[in-house]
Amino acid sequence: MSKKKRLILGISGSLRAQSFNTHLLKYTLGRIAHNNNVIVKIANLYLPLFNEDIENSVGVPSKVLKLAELVRSADAIVISTPEYNKNLSGVLKNALDWVSRVKPQPWSGKPIIIMSAASGQSGGERAQNSLRLCLAPFDPILYFAPEVAVPDASNAFDAQNIPKSKIIREKIERQISNLDAYLE
Ligand SMILES: Cc1cc2nc3c(=O)[nH]c(=O)nc-3n(C[C@H](O)[C@H](O)[C@H](O)COP(=O)(O)O)c2cc1C
Repeated sequence: MSKKKRLILGISGSLRAQSFNTHLLKYTLGRIAHNNNVIVKIANLYLPLFNEDIENSVGVPSKVLKLAELVRSADAIVISTPEYNKNLSGVLKNALDWVSRVKPQPWSGKPIIIMSAASGQSGGERAQNSLRLCLAPFDPILYFAPEVAVPDASNAFDAQNIPKSKIIREKIERQISNLDAYLE
């Protein structure tokens, strides 16, 4: 009997068309799909700015409900966040705040790999730390090592948008192996 395919949801905290975080995310999703029988989807974070007035008048927007449903149905999630002023992006925080308004909240017990790409030498480490704090209320399963943080992002990808660094690629494989139990 064929097993149901697992769903892996990718979330990029950048809306930029040539985002390095989206490159990193897509590379990682490709690697997961290469080794596992999975379906991958990428979330759409083009959402209205969070405003309780919207919620209290017309309700939670349909795009947010769709995103929350994707999170709920995902077997595992990969998030790549830019670093803006030493923090996660506002786009990503906005999405987290919106999804938190959908009950029951969908993140609980979800295995999540976190990564970042940034122009600074720390590769977005601080953005990852702030993202972990933002996810903490939702009680997901977070992996802390190895940290996939891509520094000097504008020079870090080749023409196919693959991370040039073997060390980064190996760290991605080790993070993917953290998900193996969920992908079997
Ligand atoms: C408002 C703003 C703040 C930024 N702050 C940081 C920062 O704190 N650390 C850092 O390494 N890069 C910072 N950057 C540079 C980003 O790392 C760089 O623009 C990166 O490419 C953004 O991610 P993306 O390519 O996925 O869009 C900042 C960029 C912007 C636009």
